[in-house]
Order: sequence, then structure tokens, then C-alpha cells
Amino acid sequence: MNTVLLPFPAQRRLAEELAPLLDARLGHLDWRRFPDGESLVTIDEALQGADAVLLSSLNQPDALALALRFAAATAREFGARSVGLVAPYLAYMRQDRRFHPGEAVSAPLFAAFLQEGVDWLVTVDPHLHRIDRLERIFRIPTRHVAAAPAVAAWIRTEVVHPLLIGPDGESAQWVAHIAALAEAPFQVLHKERRGDRDVSVSLPDLAAAAGRNPVIVDDIVSSGHTVIETLGHLARLGMPAATVVAIHAVFAGDAYAALQAAGAARIVSCDSISHPSNAIALAKLLAPACRELLGTDHPAAARTKA
Ligand code: R5P
Repeated sequence: MNTVLLPFPAQRRLAEELAPLLDARLGHLDWRRFPDGESLVTIDEALQGADAVLLSSLNQPDALALALRFAAATAREFGARSVGLVAPYLAYMRQDRRFHPGEAVSAPLFAAFLQEGVDWLVTVDPHLHRIDRLERIFRIPTRHVAAAPAVAAWIRTEVVHPLLIGPDGESAQWVAHIAALAEAPFQVLHKERRGDRDVSVSLPDLAAAAGRNPVIVDDIVSSGHTVIETLGHLARLGMPAATVVAIHAVFAGDAYAALQAAGAARIVSCDSISHPSNAIALAKLLAPACRELLGTDHPAAARTKA
């Protein structure tokens, strides 16, 4: 099989780990923005008959999604027989319903946009909530990889007597899975969000937390306000400084600095989004899912080949 992995610039380090696991050649892809915001994508031309795999997290989704479509179409123009997408972080999944009148329901719209360009998709812990499976919004083959084994292994190694804390009901699925694998207790708090940066969470059960080191686990840390509010509660209750584990370190704007100032013992993340806090590697979990889908034929590919 002739597989070529084409990482967007921010994901080159993850690509170096993933390429050998896929027996893939690491190809070249460059993306730059012109001063007016337009994208210029430049890719490896040696793709004749190859299964091309684009690698890009979608933490700057509006700009990246268009660049991805350009890259996918250009890969086909250069003769790729299939084009897959590994997007360790899949954006827009939280807008899975119309919360206020007139709003666009972005999750299926974004999925539709992506799948017009690629034959398959692999992602890590997409924010599946009211949309409970990727198949509900994607027609192309998809795999979603759970980061839980890697996160649990990290917690087991790095935190003594952990108590996992999910800051809201939507985090329950990840926290429960990780806690089971780490053989640690967990609590899920209740969150009320009044605005983008206006969040409150309920108190943890202090009696059950005695003698434990709190580990706040969330799938996405974006503005950081959910975690900062949780850290504040734990500090006011006199609990030890918490470790924060983000599966997807979106860290919008100054969120990382704000989190560091909020008294976390340690802030770590999976390498789905490249960031200095990355401590948990995902390549070994991504590889089997990619292998399952590599070479998948899709009507878009068939059209191009005809
Ligand atoms: C939502 O339910 C997610 O699981 C996260 O809790 C949320 O995206 C975190 O957002 P922020 O960091 O902006 O508070």
C-alpha cells in the first residue's frame, strides 16, 4: 500500500509518530495565510495512486476547513486514489441543536462540508451529546478513537490517590471511562453556563474526596472558564491543588495563562492539538483506526478516478 501522510504544519510532531505506525511516507503540506486572510495550500505532488491522509486538528475551524478542502482536492488532482482525514479534534460538535431561535445547527453543517472533500474521517473523542454517534451526521466511514486508555495510564503513573472530577454532566462519559481504566473514584459536578465566559459549577462531595488528589478532566478546554470555576471551588473547600487534564487543549485566547493563574497543580493535555501542555500521546491509539479505513473507496474518489 502506498500511503502518504500529509500533516498541516501544526501537526508535524504528531505526524512523525503516526507515519511509521501506518507504514506511511511523511509528505509535505504547507499552509500559509495572505495578509487578507486567504489561504495558500501547497502539497507534495508525488501522490499518483497513493492513499493520502490529511492530518489536521480543527481548532481554528473556519480557516482550516477551507484549507483542508483545497488540500484534499489538490491531492486528488495529483492522482491520490483516496483521501482520508485524521482530525484529532473535531470542531463544532457542541452546537448540536438550536439553543436560541434562528441559530444555525453547526455540527451537521460542518460535517457536510468536510465530507464533501474526504473519503473517511478519524477523530478523537468528538463531543457527542445530543448527536450520539458520528454516523448521524457523516455519510462517509468514520472512526472515533477514545483517549481514555492513554489518559488513564498517565493518571495512574503521575497522580497518587486520584479523585477524578468531571465539571459537568456532558463530561460524564469521558470521566467515567477514564476512572474505570485508572481504577479511581470519580464525581461529576453540575454546570450552569450563562454566557461564553460566565459559568458556575456545583460543589463536589467533600466526604468522598477526603485524602484524594483531585484531577479535573474535561474533553474540551476552550475559554477555560469551566475549569477555572471548578478550581476555585476546590480551593475554597480546602482540597489539594488539582491537576487539570484536557483531552483537547483548545485554550482560546489567554485561557492557558488564566488557568495557570487559577491555581492548578499541573495542566496537561493530549496531543490532539499541539500545545506546550501536551503530555499524553495519541498516535498509538489513532493508528489502528486509520488502518481500518485506509483505502476506503467513496463516491467522491470514484468520480475523480473516472
Ligand atoms: C462542554 O460541555 C465541554 O465538555 C466543556 O466543558 C466546555 O467546552 C468547556 O468550555 P470552556 O473552557 O469555554 O468553559
